[in-house]
Amino acid sequence: MILITGGAGYIGSHCTLDLTRAGYNCVVLDDLSEGHLEALQTDNFCRVNLEDVDKLREVFRKYPIEAVIHFAASCYVGESAINPQKYYQNNVVNTLNLLQVMLESNVKKIVFSSTCAAYGNPKYTPIDENHPKNPINTYGKTKLMIENILEDYDRAYGLKYMALRYFNAAGADNKANIGESHNPETHLIPLVLEAASGKRELIKIFGDDYHTPDGTCIRDYIHVNDLSSAHRLALDKLLNGAGSNFYNLGTGKGVSVKEIIDISEKITGKTVKSEIIHKRPGDPPLLFADNKKAQLELGWRPEYNKIDDIISTAWYWEQNRRY
Ligand code: UFG
Repeated sequence: MILITGGAGYIGSHCTLDLTRAGYNCVVLDDLSEGHLEALQTDNFCRVNLEDVDKLREVFRKYPIEAVIHFAASCYVGESAINPQKYYQNNVVNTLNLLQVMLESNVKKIVFSSTCAAYGNPKYTPIDENHPKNPINTYGKTKLMIENILEDYDRAYGLKYMALRYFNAAGADNKANIGESHNPETHLIPLVLEAASGKRELIKIFGDDYHTPDGTCIRDYIHVNDLSSAHRLALDKLLNGAGSNFYNLGTGKGVSVKEIIDISEKITGKTVKSEIIHKRPGDPPLLFADNKKAQLELGWRPEYNKIDDIISTAWYWEQNRRY
């Protein structure tokens, strides 16, 4: 059985769906602070906050857990600058709790949600896994700390991990009708689509004088189902006895904020009003992945290589949301 922390959240629910489709038995652990009951893709659910070590121990006693996929975390770059304490607590301290109970229970395999924010301002693009890691925001720092902790735990206790450094997760699984639902929403694509559907008056563009072709920030948007398949492949590898490793998960293509708005207008057939405002602290101008390592070593093939297809699935979700 695979324990999925944060499995009621956006990426966690899609990953549970993918693993279940592939025949894995999953148990989801989530405190529902950000997640949604409606997003759950298994009946095995424990409402637990990772602060609560005793309850965590009960989960490990109740289920025959072979490996863990650890999504539960706070994940807003902007908020992490305003409230770092929350990020060090939820992302670092709570992960230490999880690792403690895993070791007590002799569970020594974990797939960890890391981030391209661990690299900071790129020295070169596309960013490969050897790029220096110098995060410029607290969120990225917390994820890098965990990667370092995992490295030490492997050396000392033989804990094997796969750290997956996501670029920008986007899109939705339209068959299961699950998708992105944050409160408040801060991510670009859902906000642009809310503006297209009339739920929001306009989209604020955080700066248009970056050193990029149209002056707005460039990101690598990766479909959430492609992220999920990479988790499954990384898990398969761990269960087959592979050593620890780390992989970038992105499409390798950069798309600017203005391009996202233009393509969304084309897909939705609606006008999206926008306004340029000041830059958001902690935003690197340009991030996109070199994903060759994941393709070569995990056999991962992202299926959604066109941003239009990714936005189309997010637009379907926006129009058919259940939560
Ligand atoms: N943006 C706007 N206006 C908005 C929202 C976003 O212009 O209202 C811009 C941002 O400045 C950024 C781009 O759109 O340039 C994407 O922003 P998101 O907030 O959607 O995503 P981020 O790139 O900030 O963060 C995401 C994840 C993080 C992850 C990071 C890695 O939320 O968890 O990607 O880059 F660490």
